[in-house]
Amino acid sequence: MRIASYICEKASWWNEAWPAMRQTVLSHFQVESLLAARRAGRPSASVSLDLELTIADVTLEEDGVRFPDGQSLTWQDLEIIRASERGCFVIEENTPRKIQFFSEQTNQLYSLMPTKRAPTMLISGIPMHRVKGTDPHADTLEKIKTIAPITGYVLDTATGLGYTAIQAAQTAEHVTTIELDPAALEVARLNPWSQSLFENLKITQMIGDSFEEIEKFEANLFARIIHDPPMFNLAGDLYSGEFYRHLFRVLQPRGRLFHYIGDLESKSGRVVTKGVMRRLEEAGFRRVSPRPAAFGVIAFK
Ligand SMILES: C[S@@+](CC[C@H](N)C(=O)[O-])C[C@H]1O[C@@H](n2cnc3c(N)ncnc32)[C@H](O)[C@@H]1O
Repeated sequence: MRIASYICEKASWWNEAWPAMRQTVLSHFQVESLLAARRAGRPSASVSLDLELTIADVTLEEDGVRFPDGQSLTWQDLEIIRASERGCFVIEENTPRKIQFFSEQTNQLYSLMPTKRAPTMLISGIPMHRVKGTDPHADTLEKIKTIAPITGYVLDTATGLGYTAIQAAQTAEHVTTIELDPAALEVARLNPWSQSLFENLKITQMIGDSFEEIEKFEANLFARIIHDPPMFNLAGDLYSGEFYRHLFRVLQPRGRLFHYIGDLESKSGRVVTKGVMRRLEEAGFRRVSPRPAAFGVIAFK
């Protein structure tokens, strides 16, 4: 598979398929600010309507709040959002709808969980980014930093909310990102922090199993690979010697791989890391070395 052909395909259809989305999305963090303004008797409040990316003015009324797009929510609706510590809500037709999708394909529930900055995605309750002592945005920067500078063609094997793909696309020539479950992309589509995934023409999305899709790429295609799979016991194939041999094959000579694993110093992390490093070396990678701050390892071809 060549990159140039599907960049052109994408350019022709993406505008229709992915209309610009600028919807109001709230979590308990923003609702706390609205309730505080009400308690203080203010007529309006400045809060974020896109999970802390920007700030907008919201009018406080007797029955509830009115947003700049004309939609409104009652104080009771806002209490529902405030009570949900692990949920984000999109406001549609004056009603809050929790951002979550059940996938019949994988039997998993995908949802958006707020933090004080970028949200993470939960897959059946498990966060897909680090949130303790850091946040998903800082977590993404740590991962990307390990294989900087990000140049040329980049492969991102697990799209999720698209944070690694979006960050890589800032300096890469092109990013190809693969996601197994369309339900994960439904969540991303409603996440204000993921919009560039659908708007940046340097990013090509593929839906499929990376374990299978990797076979379709020609050898020596990518200058950088970001491998950020779910944890070992949820996606064993993506930690196998067979998959690593394909990663090695599609990476350019002198290319770099970052492989997220999890806390390298935890009991299970130590065991998984040892096996990952051994199999990467067996697949041909050299200078395989741990990057504990990024919860992963790097390797060179
Ligand atoms: C840890 S998250 C990736 C986070 C992402 N890098 C980001 O920056 O938001 C892992 C993602 O891999 C997806 N996934 C799981 N198995 C996969 C597979 N075999 N091929 C492609 N994607 C897979 C999951 O659905 C999930 O969205």
